[in-house]
Amino acid sequence: MSGPSDPRLETQVYRPAADSTLLVEAAKQVLDPGWIVVDTGTGSGIVADRLQREAAVRAIATDINPHACAAASRRGLEVVRGSLLDPIDEASVDAAVFNPPYLPADDRLPDDWLDRATTGGPTGIELVSDWIEDVPRVLKPGGVAVCLVSSLTDIDEVVAIAEATGLSVTELAERPFPFERLVALALNPAEPSAVDQLA
Ligand SMILES: C[S@@+](CC[C@H](N)C(=O)[O-])C[C@H]1O[C@@H](n2cnc3c(N)ncnc32)[C@H](O)[C@@H]1O
Repeated sequence: MSGPSDPRLETQVYRPAADSTLLVEAAKQVLDPGWIVVDTGTGSGIVADRLQREAAVRAIATDINPHACAAASRRGLEVVRGSLLDPIDEASVDAAVFNPPYLPADDRLPDDWLDRATTGGPTGIELVSDWIEDVPRVLKPGGVAVCLVSSLTDIDEVVAIAEATGLSVTELAERPFPFERLVALALNPAEPSAVDQLA
């Protein structure tokens, strides 16, 4: 018998794909065991779940989509529903990871949860840019953020927004596909200089 929690019937939650795997593999390069990691836009919970098991971190899974929150809960994850980093307190996590909706808006698509899982705004980068601008607030000192960006959008503009936010940007991994290239970026807040610390 199947019910609403049957994954075969799940049509309102993003199905894990190669982008999910790229984020896991990239994030594992920079995480330390025991860290608290928020997985924004957790979807099915695949990234948070794999990072807990493979990188020995404690994951907090968040999503705006209630169906995604339910799916992540069914995996036994700690889940908080909310938009981007709104549910996360200041300086409370060691790392933040995000496989964001990154496609430019397409008005022909229905406005539903799956559309919200893939559409990042008019040019595709608006949502991830909002996340980047807020990420320094939630990171503990020495923390790091990791997110994906697509060549279907303006990667240079995302990097420029991160740098204008005071983050240094490193490319951790990339994966080519027939119609796009996905890049995993590590974003590190600048450490306060000795002069700043004295001020
Ligand atoms: C591309 S899917 C990634 C899902 C999952 N992390 C993975 O890698 O398989 C993007 C996710 O972001 C969520 N999302 C969209 N807008 C959001 C927002 N404002 N705040 C939090 N999550 C959001 C969507 O519901 C969706 O689950």
